[in-house]
Amino acid sequence: MEKFDVKTKGAIGGLFVIAIALGFAGGKMRPAPPVEPGAKNDKPIVSETGTGIVVTKAADWEEKFPNEFASYMKNDENEEIHSYLELHPYLKTLYRGYGFAIQYGSARGHTYVVEDVQSTGRPHKMANCYTCKTSNLTAKALNDGDSAYAMAFDDLTKEITDNFGCFHCHENEPGVLYVTHRYLSDAVAGDLDSVPVQTLSCGQCHSEYHFNPETKATTLAYTGLKTMNPDDMLKFYNTGFAEPFADWTDEQTGVKKLKVQHPEFETFLGAGSPHASNMTCADCHMGTTTAADGTQYTNHYWISPLDNKELLENNCAKCHGTSLADTVEKIHEEINGRTDALGERLAALDAKLIKAVADKTLSEKDLAEVRENFRTAQWYWDFVFVENGDGAHNKTLATKCLDSAEEYIVKLEAVLGK
Ligand code: HEC
Ligand code: HEC
Ligand code: HEC
Ligand code: HEC
Repeated sequence: MEKFDVKTKGAIGGLFVIAIALGFAGGKMRPAPPVEPGAKNDKPIVSETGTGIVVTKAADWEEKFPNEFASYMKNDENEEIHSYLELHPYLKTLYRGYGFAIQYGSARGHTYVVEDVQSTGRPHKMANCYTCKTSNLTAKALNDGDSAYAMAFDDLTKEITDNFGCFHCHENEPGVLYVTHRYLSDAVAGDLDSVPVQTLSCGQCHSEYHFNPETKATTLAYTGLKTMNPDDMLKFYNTGFAEPFADWTDEQTGVKKLKVQHPEFETFLGAGSPHASNMTCADCHMGTTTAADGTQYTNHYWISPLDNKELLENNCAKCHGTSLADTVEKIHEEINGRTDALGERLAALDAKLIKAVADKTLSEKDLAEVRENFRTAQWYWDFVFVENGDGAHNKTLATKCLDSAEEYIVKLEAVLGK
């Protein structure tokens, strides 16, 4: 896949600059922004629908916001990618029959999203796969509603002018934080004002989602923060539809499986998180940087806080001293070690279940219960496996999920054997 060139792609973006010069925003007069571009907002602002808004692509902001743009372009340096399937071979068993068993690469910088989704090797039918990638789909969903998600993937590809982009978080007013992905504000619902805008902006994509079976629209599995936890989300997938929701059904075992996807938002804000009430995603993954001329700006190079020296010294060290890296490493070792061990145990049970199905050794009732328990165990295991903090965002919740996964694995082992 060719690298998406942020600066040269996008004739529409170019036309848009002319449109701004004429005083129009994408063919539509926009009301005056709530604050000057570059200024900030405390309370969430949810993007309006049906306004015909057109994306101003990232490169068009370079002149006006050189520091933010330059730090955004630094995401190109976060280019490393490794194959989860090679690192954890048991995944091929647990994800068998689903795209992630074919190719599953680790995450890297935001400026790679378009080429990474286009080159996964997993089949893409619909534009909804671009939800957390190009802001062109974000604008389209605001303008056209859910039908945007159901467009053919290849048709949307032709309309892309913006690789990731500023629009996801700022609409066309850099500095002001918008919720442009309205499925998030729909899900957080009445609790929206209680979540900091600097956490909502990341939760737009770093959250557990599914595609609505009817509309194909990207949707989250909760309404309000009270049901935003792994137990209630599973309950929703089990009972919130005419049939229990499944991302896919494994042909060999008949287990109706759920694929969890990067639930950073739900994990960081979940019960037990030591920093949920006093920090935001941006505090730890962006931070403030001082340019050579003394200007302070928000760093748009999204990296681990452990790789941000200025942040560690000015902020984390106040409470963690110099021990944060050790603390994080210990959490990773414990959580990742346990996740792998449970994943291996579940994969071993898969082989036993295939045999039990083939040999018809279980009654219909027992088989149904085993399948249900397998689904449940894999849900709780995956909630930790795919969470990018590897325990660092909320060790208490990660541990609780692994305990639940283990509880169901033990039940399965009692029936199928160890
Ligand atoms: C993933 C979300 C996200 C994206 C994408 C994003 N920003 Fe930001 N931006 C933020 C956050 C968070 C802040 C801090 C705002 C606050 O603390 O209120 C911010 C602040 C800013 C500010 C205010 C001044 C400052 O530096 O604090 C400007 C200007 C800005 N961004 C420009 C841009 C530009 C230009 C782009 C695209 C090249 C961009 N942003 C892309 C999240 C984002
Ligand atoms: C529009 C969707 C979207 C938004 C909004 C978003 N991200 Fe991301 N983020 C992604 C995707 C997709 C990837 C993986 C990119 C790839 O591998 O191609 C990613 C990757 C990352 C990575 C790199 C992970 C790695 O392993 O190198 C970090 C860190 C990150 N995001 C943090 C944030 C933070 C913090 C915010 C909010 C300020 C945010 N993201 C907002 C979609 C988003
Ligand atoms: C209190 C600080 C803190 C907050 C707040 C925080 N994170 Fe993290 N995050 C971490 C740490 C620590 C890691 C592990 C980094 C490492 O191992 O180097 C991490 C890892 C990540 C990664 C993987 C990055 C990588 O390079 O592998 C992503 C993506 C991420 N966080 C997104 C988010 C999102 C989205 C939010 C908000 C919902 C958030 N984080 C809130 C501290 C934080
Ligand atoms: C005001 C004090 C304070 C500051 C500042 C602070 N922390 Fe913490 N942090 C805590 C406390 C208290 C805990 C919970 C007890 C512990 O693990 O030490 C914690 C826990 C953590 C954990 C473990 C999470 C878990 O679930 O066990 C991580 C990771 C973390 N902090 C990262 C950071 C990062 C990154 C920064 C800087 C951006 C930071 N902290 C700044 C007080 C602070």
